[in-house]
Amino acid sequence: MQALLDFAREVRDGLSKPGQRELPSIYLYDEIGTALFEAITLLPEYGLTRADERLLRRHAPAIIERLPPPVLVTELGSGCGLKTRWLLETLARREPVGYYPIDISPSALAKCERELASLGSVSIVGLEKSYLDGVREVASRRRPGQTLLVLFLGSTIGNFDRPAADVFLREIRRCLQPGDALLLGTDLEKPVAELLLAYDDPAGVTAAFNLNLLARINRELGGDFVLRNFAHEARYRKRERRVEMHLRSKRRQSVSIREAGFTCTLKADETIWTEACHKFRVEEIPGMAARTGFVCEAQWVDSEWPFAENLWIAAPPAATS
Ligand code: AVJ
Repeated sequence: MQALLDFAREVRDGLSKPGQRELPSIYLYDEIGTALFEAITLLPEYGLTRADERLLRRHAPAIIERLPPPVLVTELGSGCGLKTRWLLETLARREPVGYYPIDISPSALAKCERELASLGSVSIVGLEKSYLDGVREVASRRRPGQTLLVLFLGSTIGNFDRPAADVFLREIRRCLQPGDALLLGTDLEKPVAELLLAYDDPAGVTAAFNLNLLARINRELGGDFVLRNFAHEARYRKRERRVEMHLRSKRRQSVSIREAGFTCTLKADETIWTEACHKFRVEEIPGMAARTGFVCEAQWVDSEWPFAENLWIAAPPAATS
């Protein structure tokens, strides 16, 4: 109930913004949106997830080797695919493993628990919470001597604008003890044409993923968006080094959302901004770590699709600015 009220309020606030209207990207991931995102990860144009997975498969032993046992694993977002499996399998060969995926979506957690159920000596406890509340909960359950490994894969950090990413990473750091680890996946800059194809695939899967946000507002909040009156758009912003997803109004039209008590008129070609996907340079990552209370201990870059896996270690408080 509270979740639905929050959704209604955030939709109303975002669509009432003067200038660029916005919708928060977290709401892209309902059950249908999550299924569509999984389809995106299989598209030939979207190399990001395969790069992430290749790096973890190849380097899982090197990553695990740097973490003193026993290790407790938590993940921001219940990435249940192959990539988490490689790490957990590698770790489970060394010791029994506790794994706490954190996700606001109960269906995503259930799926994750089903998919990883076959892993011996891994005990899985899903936490249906926001990322920060989840990490706080895991931190409160840890036993002395355990190393906490936080996984933040798939370049989800790219959804935050850069100042907000720093704030978030500092918050994560505050939940950790010196010597704990954060494994951060970051998609790297690449030619604009390639990026635009990755976020506007010819089969229209990403378009469906984006438009589903309007369908979700119709379903859950009594909206009357006519989806055919909107077009998916991917833009690259050079200065911000990010891809943006927008929904462009194909004509002047009015929309109303019953549960949000909201009505507005969109101009022809006006857009609603739905997601930001920031891209990184491998050289900027150690600076991000230092600013947020970590030391960037190692980086691995995929040779096919520029993407970096970054292993950060929580620095002692003296080094935390
Ligand atoms: C799940 C946020 C990492 O930014 O590439 C994919 C989401 N949006 N295609 C990304 C997404 C459109 C994805 N993240």
